[in-house]
Amino acid sequence: MTSTKPDIEQIRKDFPLLSREVNGKPLVYLDNGATAQKPKQVIDAISGYYELENANVHRGVHFLSQLATDKFEAARELVRGFMNAPHLHEVIFTRGTTEAINLVAYSFCKAFLKPGDEILISAMEHHSNIVPWQLACEDRGATLKVIPYNEKGELIQSEYEKLLTDKVKLVSVVHISNALGTINPVKEMIRKAHEKNIPVMVDGAQAAPHLRIDVQDLDADFYCFSGHKVFGPTGIGVLYGKEKWLNAMPPYHGGGEMIKTVSFEKTTYNELPHKFEAGTPDIAGVIGLGEAIKYINSIGIETIGAWEHELLEYATEKLLAIPGLKIIGTAENKASVISFIVEGIHPYDIGVLVDKMGVAIRTGHHCAQPIMDQFCIPGTARASFAFYNTKDDVDRLVSSVTKAVTMLS
Ligand code: ALA
Repeated sequence: MTSTKPDIEQIRKDFPLLSREVNGKPLVYLDNGATAQKPKQVIDAISGYYELENANVHRGVHFLSQLATDKFEAARELVRGFMNAPHLHEVIFTRGTTEAINLVAYSFCKAFLKPGDEILISAMEHHSNIVPWQLACEDRGATLKVIPYNEKGELIQSEYEKLLTDKVKLVSVVHISNALGTINPVKEMIRKAHEKNIPVMVDGAQAAPHLRIDVQDLDADFYCFSGHKVFGPTGIGVLYGKEKWLNAMPPYHGGGEMIKTVSFEKTTYNELPHKFEAGTPDIAGVIGLGEAIKYINSIGIETIGAWEHELLEYATEKLLAIPGLKIIGTAENKASVISFIVEGIHPYDIGVLVDKMGVAIRTGHHCAQPIMDQFCIPGTARASFAFYNTKDDVDRLVSSVTKAVTMLS
């Protein structure tokens, strides 16, 4: 990793929302794990499309339709490069990570999952990487198995290896845990699964804003992420899938765009990626996502990762100095997410009080209830950092949590 610090002062000028006040105080936004703020370049690309370029894609010969199609497909190429996907047609636009996982859970399982088979996930998954597999297993008479983790929040690799039996038809695992911050060794996990010819899906929702994603280096069979967490719009996301799987899977949704021919007797399906993109897509969302990727590329994902790591270390040390505060998720390899609890105080109360001081953090189970159950806690308070955060932001977090704890003790 390079340690070149990004020009944060300059970068922050691109994010209009970061200069607003909340509850009469300058905003400190530390809920990037839930959604990231958008630079002006993304906002302008979306409004520019609606102001001057609005037309449907892949459907018209007229000027505007071709312009919209060109911009839409240029964004697909930006996404392909961002993930280093080998082929453009392996990049499918979805509504987000959740829809991408549901697509694979439905279509892959319809083609390949039989009664008695197993799907393997981990104990640190977000609900969106649990429930779609429960639905698929219920539908196909299969079983969901779960890889456990240790007290630091690291997946236990020896248990994983034991669970990789002939019955497993797919592994689906999170790259970075949204609640613990753990960076899982997905490359190694994929290698182990492939030794047994088991394909692997990776939920990259929290990884894409922080790490270089290289689906070829990982050899992932499926990889997905959401636009809104990489500084793009909500309602748009990406599924990468290896061509061999996508071609063997039935469509997820039926409708326009995903067909080649339709008759009442028989419908034939379009080529990839269109087979999985039924209906008019979120064109403005795709264009906005492309712009967000250009923005990340202009800073450099390694520069982003190095700065966030510095923030993580700084914040971890400062927070741990608060009496009674305990960090949940202490993996060796962690991203810039800090979940914490304070003895005797409900995380919700901390969240409400620091908000009054202008500091936005998330509290609750973070859509990962099984994690909270394992630690026997109702939830945590969570600060999650982005490249536009500063050490001053961390200082404001620490002073407001300290005040909140004093008031609530
Ligand atoms: N999954 C998102 C989070 O962790 C919403 O906050």
